[in-house]
Amino acid sequence: MSKPSFYISTPIYYPNASPHIGHTYTTVAADAIARYKRLTGYNVWFLTGTDEHGQKIERTAKAQNQQPIEYVDPIVEGFKRLWKTLEINYDDFIRTTEPRHKEVVQYIFKKIYEKGDIYKSEYQGWYCTPCETFWTERQLVENNCPDCGRPVELVKEESFFFKMSKYAERLLKHIEDNPDFIQPVSRRNEMVSFIKSGLEDLCVSRTTFDWGIPVPINEKHVIYVWFDALTNYISALGYSTENDEKFKTYWPCDVHLVGKDIVRFHTVIWPIILMAAEIELPKKVMGHGWVLLEGGKMSKSKGNVIDPHLLVDKYGVDAIRYYLLRELPFGSDGYYSEESLIQRINSDLANDLGNLVSRTVAMVEKYFDGVLPGPQGQEEALDTDLREVAGKTLEDYKELMEKLDLSNALSVVWRLVSRSNKYIDENVPWALAKDENQRGRLGTVLYNLTEVIRIITILVSPAMPLLPPKVWEQLGLTQNQEVQTWESVSTWGQIPQGTKVQKGPALFPRIEEGKTEAKDVTPPAPSQEKAEEKETGEEKYITIDEFARVDLRVAEVISAEKVEKADKLLKLELKVGDEIRTVVSGIALHYSPEEMVGKKVALVANLKPTKLRGILSQGMILAASDSDKLEVLMVDKDINSGNPVK
Ligand code: ME8
Ligand code: MG
Repeated sequence: MSKPSFYISTPIYYPNASPHIGHTYTTVAADAIARYKRLTGYNVWFLTGTDEHGQKIERTAKAQNQQPIEYVDPIVEGFKRLWKTLEINYDDFIRTTEPRHKEVVQYIFKKIYEKGDIYKSEYQGWYCTPCETFWTERQLVENNCPDCGRPVELVKEESFFFKMSKYAERLLKHIEDNPDFIQPVSRRNEMVSFIKSGLEDLCVSRTTFDWGIPVPINEKHVIYVWFDALTNYISALGYSTENDEKFKTYWPCDVHLVGKDIVRFHTVIWPIILMAAEIELPKKVMGHGWVLLEGGKMSKSKGNVIDPHLLVDKYGVDAIRYYLLRELPFGSDGYYSEESLIQRINSDLANDLGNLVSRTVAMVEKYFDGVLPGPQGQEEALDTDLREVAGKTLEDYKELMEKLDLSNALSVVWRLVSRSNKYIDENVPWALAKDENQRGRLGTVLYNLTEVIRIITILVSPAMPLLPPKVWEQLGLTQNQEVQTWESVSTWGQIPQGTKVQKGPALFPRIEEGKTEAKDVTPPAPSQEKAEEKETGEEKYITIDEFARVDLRVAEVISAEKVEKADKLLKLELKVGDEIRTVVSGIALHYSPEEMVGKKVALVANLKPTKLRGILSQGMILAASDSDKLEVLMVDKDINSGNPVK
């Protein structure tokens, strides 16, 4: 039986500058989805590429005294290099300057022209070159581009027009009949009102510059770059050529994954081009949220562009992929910061997952000379619970992955990771090891742990492709392909008894904070120098004045709530004397919001405010912690809030 097909695409990016963390996010997300689909038995086609024509690229190249193609070639290579570094396993990379693409774009243009849906007229209106978008006077916001806020230019030239308005009703009906077509729902509603506000015919050619695909019936014109670019999704499959097996196999596309900035092009212009050309529409357009930086939008001029190569060098491929997919709630915006990256690595990867594997393997080595015993005796309640949590995790994970909610899919896997670490603590294997009569039980506990690690490894493999081989090596399963498959995930107890495990290097070494906190674009942070001084012993003591710089206050919790999609965070409203402060605190796994209300805590009141999950956190509350325990320091006696702690 042949496998069902699955086609996923990323946008084709403009090679006017090197890829940054935003492009990385989309591409990593698409790769994780593609890997998941391959894992679960689909015949996957994953397409990415570059969008190389248009006025923006032509101008950027000119400013460098280069021909456009000379200018873009090395940048395109840079995209490919980054995708290789990040283990992006695409099936095809399309460049719009390739003949195979141009041919199809011209074919479709001509087809629509001959049908009468493209006609020649005069365009007069505004153009935003950075967005490559036409705007009418009334759409401008304070005379600027309504999308990016930058200045627009007046354009007046002979143009070909595409009868978009003719298809508005049909498109609305399609969106209505196919609730999954535009995801998430919020963007779907936005698009529906955009279409209802009235579609203008679209200008689909330009005559005032050359860098584009010639209009086949009038070579004075080049085809509008968005008409050209959107067509990549079928030109890459060989549509309309002799070689169209891929088109037959994979079209209609299952998911066009794009950022929210270009949902309109993909859900209005693209479907209408397809309708006019009498081609089936894609099944789904998913518009994900935006990667934001603390200081506002990423831009070259602000110098806050994050170079993904540097991040990979510092933290590794799997860690960056995991962080991006986990930290940014799919569909909504999220903040990138190096602090939260380090925190994710240290807590989720090093502490939770890394330790689970290393503790388990170390115990099998220590107590059984590295030879994994089989499960023995009756299953106990703790074992049943672990097995059931694993089963439930698998169900939730599948459902979330199908919805493309990668962030929550990973968070349910981490629920299982935490459950497994707790299973170690509950069973106290080191105590079992002291009692010869408990040897069977000890074997069962370690067997169950290896089994749950096996399941976790398979579930995280789409997000972290470099991890599984390392885990299989430590568990002695490299040669045993059957226990690594998707089919094997749903059956507990697949690892053969007698498997020889072997401890390896730490899967995720901890990042020492302060040591690597340097931003890519700035010189090492002062905290780094401090940390090094401390190590040499010179700064062992601080003076009372130094301590007094920390403004510690009693603060009363007046309200508390969970931070959406952040399982560890509570948002607290604190009364500090007459002042009300908001503080985001990582205590949600240990305290419910209700428990915190009315409590008096110790607040570092003069800590520099920072944004966490989009919420401005004005200070930090003190807590004591162990690997899996945490206790907020509270003031029991009735001391007024706002009073100092010293
Ligand atoms: O728009 N956060 O190319 P482009 C999240 N060539 N995603 C981001 C991002 C951010 N801060 N910045 C960029 C174009 N992206 C056209 C596409 S498709 C037929 C033509 C990602 O280089 C996101 O996927 O401006 C966004 O949609 C895309 O890069 C825009 O890339
Ligand atoms: Mg853009």
